[in-house]
Amino acid sequence: MKKLIAGNWKAYVNTERDADELFSLANSASSSAFDLVLCPPFPYLEEAEKRAKQFAVGAQNISSEKEGAHTGEVTAGVLKDLGVKYAIIGHSERRAEGETDEMVREKMTLALEAGLSPILCVGEHLETRKKGLNAAKDFIQEQLEKDLYKLQTINYKLIIAYEPIWAIGTGVSDKPEDTIVIINFIKEFLKTNGYKREARVLYGGSVNSKNILDFLSHEEIDGALIGRASTNPKEFTAIINAIA
Ligand code: PGA
Repeated sequence: MKKLIAGNWKAYVNTERDADELFSLANSASSSAFDLVLCPPFPYLEEAEKRAKQFAVGAQNISSEKEGAHTGEVTAGVLKDLGVKYAIIGHSERRAEGETDEMVREKMTLALEAGLSPILCVGEHLETRKKGLNAAKDFIQEQLEKDLYKLQTINYKLIIAYEPIWAIGTGVSDKPEDTIVIINFIKEFLKTNGYKREARVLYGGSVNSKNILDFLSHEEIDGALIGRASTNPKEFTAIINAIA
């Protein structure tokens, strides 16, 4: 299976000029070796779509409402209409702002109905991980049960990003051998719960050009969701060169 690299720009890129530089770098990637997705802020999505040659475009979030009186929301329908292919759903930074599992499930449903490929983020807090990998598994299982409740019937290819919260933006990444345990657990959960199509499970949390191959050299890890490092032109170039 081809690895998937998704750049989650968050609010790190705040000018069109900086966005443009990253689009150009992404277009120079030799993308036959892997799938590359860029997730810029909403206002840059249209330009991203126009520029996308060697990458696909994803949104960082979608509304949990289909349409209607919801000021400031961006619906799955709008994103689909723009040509966006992917959407990050349930990122821990959004969950920290009050997004519940019920909202995450709603977003998953709306994304799938619109024909977007959701990248569902799951992962445990530090207190949970300190109790060990089994505690982390329990936490993630609960998220998966709620976020994907009764979504087995839709025929789609799932993408899950395992992002331990304590590793996001901290410079402290997970140990690849522990990541593999969790990723295998997620794949096993999906298999035994009726998700027929093989899922891609990514790792995210302080991935950079130095450690990316420590993760991607393992066949169990299907790719990476990269925040800050994907928005630094030098780092981003080093990352895509490392994988290519
Ligand atoms: P980070 O973020 O690479 O900056 O740790 C990853 C993410 O939150 O998707």
